[in-house]
Amino acid sequence: MADPTPQDPIHASRVSDRPTIPYIEGDGIGQDIWPAAKLVFDAAVKAAFGSKKKVAWLEVAAGEKGFARTGEWLPDETLNAIKTHGVAIKGPLTTPVGKGMRSLNVRIRQQLDLYACIRPIRYYPPVPSPVSHPERVDMVVFRENTEDLYAGIEWDSGSWEVTKLLGLLKSELNCDLPASCSIGIKPMSPEKTKRLVIRAFEYAFENNRKSVTLMHKGNIMKFTEGGFRKWGYEAAFETFGDRVITEETLFETHEGILPDGLVVIKDRIADMVFAEVLLRPENFDIIACPNLNGDYISDALAAQVGGLGIAPGANIGDSCAVFEATHGTAPDIAGKDLANPCSLILSGAMMFDHMGWQRAGNLIRDGVAKALAQGRVTRDLASRIKGGEEVTCSRFSRIIAEQILSGQ
Ligand code: NAI
Repeated sequence: MADPTPQDPIHASRVSDRPTIPYIEGDGIGQDIWPAAKLVFDAAVKAAFGSKKKVAWLEVAAGEKGFARTGEWLPDETLNAIKTHGVAIKGPLTTPVGKGMRSLNVRIRQQLDLYACIRPIRYYPPVPSPVSHPERVDMVVFRENTEDLYAGIEWDSGSWEVTKLLGLLKSELNCDLPASCSIGIKPMSPEKTKRLVIRAFEYAFENNRKSVTLMHKGNIMKFTEGGFRKWGYEAAFETFGDRVITEETLFETHEGILPDGLVVIKDRIADMVFAEVLLRPENFDIIACPNLNGDYISDALAAQVGGLGIAPGANIGDSCAVFEATHGTAPDIAGKDLANPCSLILSGAMMFDHMGWQRAGNLIRDGVAKALAQGRVTRDLASRIKGGEEVTCSRFSRIIAEQILSGQ
């Protein structure tokens, strides 16, 4: 991005017409889906802005490719490039199997403090879905990315740390646990909850969404998940005042009809959310949730509309953002030109929205919708769509690019 010190990239007024965007190709099918996605991105920017705007793509290393090139799985230069340019996009990365090796994705999120994991979920016909009305799903999940059980603080059964903690819990807090247990810590704070919930409401206001539902398990975990609920309400009213309305007030004073410009805040117990999104998905718009709930509900909703192969994702902080395919490296089909590139392509559409280039983002979403509607799709979908014709990953991306450019 042009501004050398981007401070709040979600407000895109400072993006230059010739931004440099770092990309991580990714391992496995990264070699298939990145060139496919890049073709679509360049076509969308050209169709949206002619020669006025153009992205300079900058490859940065990570994962197996990064290790082969630099000896490091996640080189500092890669993190620095993302910080400098404010925005980056990535394919999937292998998590090396070995003791003490944390997921590279988790490291990127934590080291860049990308605290909001954003997953829009909508249906693209005729993608096969396990439910009767997938078209009723149109939600965006805001998952807290930096705390909860994912803070990585846990100790194994029988370890000296557990022995020490068990002693402390018994002697100081009168809490008697089985000697054989493992222990994990679930930290959740008002600051980190509030910044996530504020981000969710900002998105709701900017995108004309009607409600934000706080998804929690506060009936059981009163001070962590219950804290999330309490701090979520506080954040909404402290920050947005009378632009936010509770469900009770909506029904008591507006007969359930939302006045223009307002967003409803609701909260629901996590297990209820899983049932309700299947039975009455139209009742949900934005879902804001702690890390673990968010992990579960994001993938469940992606499955509800046809799978992870098409669900996009973003990890956003106050100073930078990384957009990413939500599936893994699919080693079984890597390098065979068979992968479905939609997840990365739609993540790119989110990236352009974030930069203020919504025209390019919308063209990408329309292009994907039209290409899928034609039924000429990659192998993962072809056999499951009636009359579907299998095309390669590269051919599929050319179909999307042609759709985008033909609408010029
Ligand atoms: P996976 O998502 O790579 O594969 C699961 C199944 O889905 C496989 O049958 C695969 O062929 C298929 N699949 C996945 N993406 C596809 C696509 N775009 N088009 C067509 N088919 C697709 O999950 P798995 O096998 O559990 O993990 C493999 C590797 O990926 C591991 O090293 C894991 O750590 C990593 N991974 C990375 C993620 C990331 O970078 N965000 C997320 C999940 C896993």
